[in-house]
Amino acid sequence: MGDECTAGTGDPWAGTGDPGDLRMDRPHIARVYDYYLGGKSNYEVDREAGDQVMAVWPGVRICARTNRAFMHRAARVLCAELGLDQFLDIGTGIPSEPNLHQIVQGQNPRARVVYVDNDPLVLAHARALMNGSPDGRTACLEGDLTDPDSILRSPELGRVLDLTRPVALSMLALLHFVPDDQDAHGIVRRFADALPSGSALVLTHGTSDFAPLETGRAGQVYTERVARAQTRGREEFARFFDGLELLEPGIVVPHRWRPYRQAGACIGGDQDVADAEVGLWAGLALKP
Ligand SMILES: C[S@@+](CC[C@H](N)C(=O)[O-])C[C@H]1O[C@@H](n2cnc3c(N)ncnc32)[C@H](O)[C@@H]1O
Repeated sequence: MGDECTAGTGDPWAGTGDPGDLRMDRPHIARVYDYYLGGKSNYEVDREAGDQVMAVWPGVRICARTNRAFMHRAARVLCAELGLDQFLDIGTGIPSEPNLHQIVQGQNPRARVVYVDNDPLVLAHARALMNGSPDGRTACLEGDLTDPDSILRSPELGRVLDLTRPVALSMLALLHFVPDDQDAHGIVRRFADALPSGSALVLTHGTSDFAPLETGRAGQVYTERVARAQTRGREEFARFFDGLELLEPGIVVPHRWRPYRQAGACIGGDQDVADAEVGLWAGLALKP
């Protein structure tokens, strides 16, 4: 587990004291995703793998952008409408503005955010680039989703979040990297059980429901080149929310989740995008 986020110095290794393992020899999930989003924190090996995915499923860039836009809208609903002020984001990814803490601390400067990722490179970027508001707190932890207890019992997490009060737990574009043999549903249940009533669970997840051939091939490229991946259908996705109460509009493709337009521009919902180009399910539920 890692340290609290440090002030941005421009040096991605600031605060770690260790350059970690760059693993330039193979693509990283986070760096390939950064490439889809048009970021600069990726290398030739990541771009090559990303291009291979795009060759079989051209929608993946739209998918990444739509996923981020959903996060922006969900964060605003969690903070401004539901009044949540504690956020636990697992599988954070390389920072891409606006990040979750910028959105929620923009609404409530006292909001507290803990980011968790199992990729040391993500954490190095996050610690260098993510500065919380002075009143709120933002921490970045190295942790693995498949070991819920080590995240939930981390002293660093405990210094920022009070787990006796409601927490908004987000796992976006993450669970498709946890195949059934690692018990993805059991892991989510463990987190949901540990959080008090009034907490929220926000998920997006890759699906082959709309473009089975293309997304199936993309999944294959991921498994061969990047990391084991497993898309899930709507019913399997819905099971992650068992025991929770889904907020309207329920489980939908992310660009159809509470889209809104502002000043004539489409901010959140890419309404003109086809479901098959997005290839994700999304949902936000509350613990009764
Ligand atoms: C596709 S990115 C999504 C980033 C961000 N959540 C978003 O939706 O924009 C997936 C992230 O999950 C992280 N990840 C993958 N497996 C993980 C695990 N078992 N535990 C924690 N993080 C993981 C990767 O390192 C990567 O940063």
